[in-house]
Amino acid sequence: MKFGLSEFHLQIKGVARDFAESVLKPTVIERDIEARFPEEEVRQMGELGFMGMLVPEEYSGLNTGYLAYVIVMEEIARVDGGTSTIMSVQNSLIEWPILRYGSEEIKRRYLPLLARGEWLGAYCLSEAEAGSDAASQKSTAIKKGDRYILNGTKVWITTGGHASLFIVFAQSNPQLKHKGINAFVVERNWNGVIIGKKEDKMGIRTSDTHTIIFEDVEVPETHRLGVEGEGFKIAMSVLNGGRIGIAAQAVGIAQGAFEIAAKYATERHTFGKPIIDHQAIAMKLAEMKTRIEAARLLLYEAAYNADLGRDYSLQASVAKYYASETAMFVTTEAVQILGGYGYVREYHVERMMRDAKITQIYEGTSEIQQLVISRHLARM
Ligand code: CAA
Repeated sequence: MKFGLSEFHLQIKGVARDFAESVLKPTVIERDIEARFPEEEVRQMGELGFMGMLVPEEYSGLNTGYLAYVIVMEEIARVDGGTSTIMSVQNSLIEWPILRYGSEEIKRRYLPLLARGEWLGAYCLSEAEAGSDAASQKSTAIKKGDRYILNGTKVWITTGGHASLFIVFAQSNPQLKHKGINAFVVERNWNGVIIGKKEDKMGIRTSDTHTIIFEDVEVPETHRLGVEGEGFKIAMSVLNGGRIGIAAQAVGIAQGAFEIAAKYATERHTFGKPIIDHQAIAMKLAEMKTRIEAARLLLYEAAYNADLGRDYSLQASVAKYYASETAMFVTTEAVQILGGYGYVREYHVERMMRDAKITQIYEGTSEIQQLVISRHLARM
């Protein structure tokens, strides 16, 4: 679909596709099996500018805006869902809040390293008892002079094992409930930052997920993002953009699985004809194609609104919800169309189905997106 895409967007899409096909694809099955982090691949993505797409040039970013960002995300996810997770977290959850809420000193210190992909970041919001209910943070950040003393355990932390920097949310004044939460930039090599266990996941296995423990970590006040008590608002506004990134990932995964299924359906013969000529398969492919196109339009609308500086929280949730449901539907159907071939690693679609599942869960489950959408409706 070329609707609304400029020459620049088509060009960057081509660069991303070439990279995904030539660099990511040859090792994607092996990295999934071994749950191996794509260090060299991410380094190359840094060189291409894909690790800093929303960051202005003065901080070494590519500054392309959201539409180009989601187009590149789609292309990476079309081949390698796990690597697209790493890219999405870096762009949406780490660089964007530093750019939006960090002091000039913090921006100059960290953004160039991040945008070039030399440092990776991880977003520490979720806790064992604060997932969907993100406001019920148990981690604490108690003010002591010009520092905060940070304590707590964060779970499901994407890129946790490879991050040099963490954005951490913690409660500084429980009486104020969500208005007591603060957000901090914390370096990995500070005393008291402990990398905990690595999860053995169903999908996006090339991306690592860890528990991260903070034990009496001294965080300078200069490393708080935003004003005192603004942390929860920051967490939510970051996730608005993050949900656009995950919608792009979901569309990309769905597109990848669809292409494999459509090609297979034209090549595979049963009962004397290609299986695409059997209505049962033809209608599945038509349904898959239609849902992908619809998800992509919702995604581009959200990205377009973000680029225009409009409020995009509703569109981001609508796009994330529909795209992740689409990714799960399309990848499951792709496995079904390939039959036995779909169930083995060599043909990619079983991995895509496992990768798609997380898009219905992280950065707000499908049920949370429905909640967010319905709350918008109540205010209309
Ligand atoms: N954008 C901006 N502000 C928002 C917002 C949004 N989307 N949603 C809420 N807020 C603001 C509200 O305006 C409100 O502000 P005031 O106090 O000034 O009125 C404040 O935040 C509190 O809002 P709510 O009362 O609606 O908060 P709530 O406790 O009911 O929770 C929720 C709302 C939507 C359920 C929220 O908790 C949520 O999004 N939960 C899901 C958490 C999530 O997505 N976690 C993902 C973890 S990170 C991750 O997954 C990364 C990864 O691995 C890749």
